[in-house]
Amino acid sequence: MRFHHLTATLCALSLGAFAQTKVAQNCVDSGVCFKLNIPQVTAQNGAGNIFLSLSGPSTYSWIALGMGSSMTNSNMFVMYADGTGNVTVSPRFSQGHRQPQLDQSLDVELLGGSGIQNGIMTANIRCGNCTRNGANFAAQSGQWIHARKSGQSMDTTDAQARIMMHDVQDGFTWTYPDAVGGASANPFATSNTVVSNSLGNSNGSSGGNSNILMAHGVLASLAFLVFFPLGAIIMRIGRFNGVLQAHIATQVLSWLLFVTAFGLGLYYGINGKYMSQAHPIIGIVLLAMLVFQPFAGWLHHRQFLRSGQRSAVSHGHIWTGRIAIILGMINGGLGLQLASVETRYVIAYSVVAGVMGLAYIAATVWGEITRSRRTSVTPSEAEKIRSSPERSSVVA
Ligand code: HEM
Ligand SMILES: *[C@@H]1O[C@H](CO)[C@@H](O)[C@H](O)[C@H]1NC(C)=O
Ligand SMILES: *[C@@H]1O[C@H](CO)[C@@H](O)[C@H](O)[C@H]1NC(C)=O
Ligand SMILES: *[C@@H]1O[C@H](CO)[C@@H](O)[C@H](O)[C@H]1NC(C)=O
Repeated sequence: MRFHHLTATLCALSLGAFAQTKVAQNCVDSGVCFKLNIPQVTAQNGAGNIFLSLSGPSTYSWIALGMGSSMTNSNMFVMYADGTGNVTVSPRFSQGHRQPQLDQSLDVELLGGSGIQNGIMTANIRCGNCTRNGANFAAQSGQWIHARKSGQSMDTTDAQARIMMHDVQDGFTWTYPDAVGGASANPFATSNTVVSNSLGNSNGSSGGNSNILMAHGVLASLAFLVFFPLGAIIMRIGRFNGVLQAHIATQVLSWLLFVTAFGLGLYYGINGKYMSQAHPIIGIVLLAMLVFQPFAGWLHHRQFLRSGQRSAVSHGHIWTGRIAIILGMINGGLGLQLASVETRYVIAYSVVAGVMGLAYIAATVWGEITRSRRTSVTPSEAEKIRSSPERSSVVA
């Protein structure tokens, strides 16, 4: 009996010591997979090495894996092509919805088996102190995040290289017991590895809010790059019946576009905690400037019909509109910068902003010059304007 007991104990011991290397694999989609191995000792001590592997098509500019449930206070591993057939792994720390910055205090090593082969980039990584920040690898599971960006290879060995914002991002839960086992120095190169598909529950939130961000950008751009300037230009240089009606219609449309874009931006900004950035602050200033603008326009028009002259309200309406349009155009640029969008969108935005901005300024200057010529004719001119049947289309 005693003998049997001893054998059982020995067996258990040797099983423990030679326990097979276990790897939990989570293939998200598009051929992108993440693997995790937690050596036995790490699971026992709650500290020590862990091993990670990232792989995916090299049609991605970068692929990254991060610890935690969101970008806030996440340790991340960003992989990109290094330009020599291998990959660069950049350990980064992310404080929030901003570009994560290189974190040299993470003890990270790129292992054998890493590289780019047949269009797949792979990074096998050892992390020596990923347990800081309270990660517990003895737990039943842990929250992780991943993200990636399609586009040109970065081809750099610079671990601090600027990365563009992801076009796919999601979170998942890793079942740690699937990953605990072994004492291999490179579990991904070991042949007798047990790989289990740890189908960590994905949040399934890929791109979720980016639709809101997109709608915010498109609506606000339509308002400030197209319709606000167009409505103002019509008022300045339009010479047809119903100029005023066209101005009102265009500006009410622009105003609704802007207010909708503002609402979406506010929702996004509060959720993402970037209300302290310049872009949202200027957005609030713009809302404050524009909220009474339709009413001021109406007041101006009413008194203009009576006096034929601009009043304080008129100057308020006109100058608020002018400043808001230019400020809105500039703020759109700041928004593109905040969202870290691709250069081609920045170029497209700048070109349209430049063209519309110049057209608007030219129309304003020209409108003022011709207006001062007209109003400096005779006093009875104002009288005529007032009694004109087309008075509603008078350029004010
Ligand atoms: C230039 C670099 C980056 C920028 C500018 C950036 C920006 C953002 C922004 C604005 C959001 C909010 C998106 C939304 O709510 O729709 C977000 C979310 C997210 N990002 Fe990033 N990110 C960057 C890099 C990364 C990296 C390297 C990862 C990799 C792990 C990552 C993972 C995520 C995840 C999982 C979310 C959703 C969860 C959350 O809201 O934190 N990001 N990012
Ligand atoms: C992580 O490990 C590296 C190298 O051993 C060390 O220099 C660094 O201070 C460690 N960082 C933390 C936060 O433990
Ligand atoms: C990439 O670099 C790692 C670490 O230096 C090395 O072990 C690996 O063999 C390299 N891969 C290729 C394809 O050169
Ligand atoms: C995943 O869902 C959890 C719980 O709803 C949430 O706290 C977390 O922020 C989500 N993570 C991502 C990356 O969406």
